[in-house]
Amino acid sequence: MFMKFKNPLSLFRKNVGIDLGTANSLVYLSGRGIVINEPSAVAINNKTNKVVAVGTEAKQMLGRTPLHITVVRPLVGGVISDFEMAQEILKQFLKKLGNSSFVNYYQNAVIGVPADLTEVERKSVEDAVLGAGVSKAYVIESAIAAALGARLPVNEPVANMIIDIGGGTTEIAIISMGGAVTVKSLKVAGDKLNDDILKFVREEFHLAIGEPTAEELKIEIGSAIPIADKLEMTIRGRDLTTGLPKEVVLKDAHVRAAINKSLRLIIDAVKEVVEKAPPELVGDLLKRGIYMCGGGSLLRGIDELIAKELSTTTTIVDDPLTCVARGAGIAVENLEKYDYILNSPLKPREIKL
Ligand SMILES: Nc1ncnc2c1ncn2[C@@H]1O[C@H](COP(=O)(O)OP(=O)(O)OP(=O)(O)O)[C@@H](O)[C@H]1O
Ligand SMILES: [Mg+2]
Repeated sequence: MFMKFKNPLSLFRKNVGIDLGTANSLVYLSGRGIVINEPSAVAINNKTNKVVAVGTEAKQMLGRTPLHITVVRPLVGGVISDFEMAQEILKQFLKKLGNSSFVNYYQNAVIGVPADLTEVERKSVEDAVLGAGVSKAYVIESAIAAALGARLPVNEPVANMIIDIGGGTTEIAIISMGGAVTVKSLKVAGDKLNDDILKFVREEFHLAIGEPTAEELKIEIGSAIPIADKLEMTIRGRDLTTGLPKEVVLKDAHVRAAINKSLRLIIDAVKEVVEKAPPELVGDLLKRGIYMCGGGSLLRGIDELIAKELSTTTTIVDDPLTCVARGAGIAVENLEKYDYILNSPLKPREIKL
């Protein structure tokens, strides 16, 4: 028995959900789940202009490369700043899954994007996906993808609030009936906290440290509110006065002081979103509480701080770092059902074979 297919190639084609993040990029393969989860980094040989490594391997080279190798992160604040390199990341990741350069092996891709993208920026995301070997590219607001990934009832007429604190952006959204009612995207997130810590150590201890050390401090001993266990970490860097290596012990209170201002900016933005929400939805928010995701939601006590400031409850979703990719995956597996949620309903950008 022969079965008829509109396009026989579609038998072999796969659908993917993509979260191209400032810090990490993830690919969800339909029917399989998350298959790629690596830093959004590319290492290039400046002499030959060739890509040396992508993802985890490239991030490991950060700060340790010889002069002729540069490690770049092609996304800044959730937006592609280096188109070629962003496309390179997607290409290499999809290739790892067995993409062939001759055929567009992937049929549909749904990719999460920040809410406040300009038309040009959105197109560049779509072009990056299409150029990486996918036939049809749909974009979804990443806050909505996060809500889908968190299995929140996005289609119902109740308000859900989700805060995604990533590397480059914090997205705060109130979602109801499949759409973002209010959304705010600010460029204060994990990277900014790393930068705050780096500057604090330089100013208070006259010590130069690299970003990886600042990030380690944040993850190992950082907190948003005073904590019961006193944490400390010994770091090494270059003394700015003598130019020689020096060791310093930092405590959790130091890191808290360093990141306090940025955390206030995040809290203020959350309050602003709630204040702007239609009054009938605010009741839902207080009742249902606020959901949090993204790597930044793992900062000790940030959920408690937000709960206290907003006088409601907070829940960190399961597996907060993969939530947007899982949501994009759910959307790509149910394109018809979620068509109205996708930014380009029924009119994806398409490459003809
Ligand atoms: N345990 C932790 N405590 C605090 N911060 C953390 C922790 N784990 C990861 N992070 C931070 O989370 C950030 C990465 O989160 P995520 O992968 O959600 O970002 P992204 O999706 O790549 O960025 P964006 O959404 O802004 O484009 C990094 O800044 C990282 O330092
Ligand atoms: Mg993200």
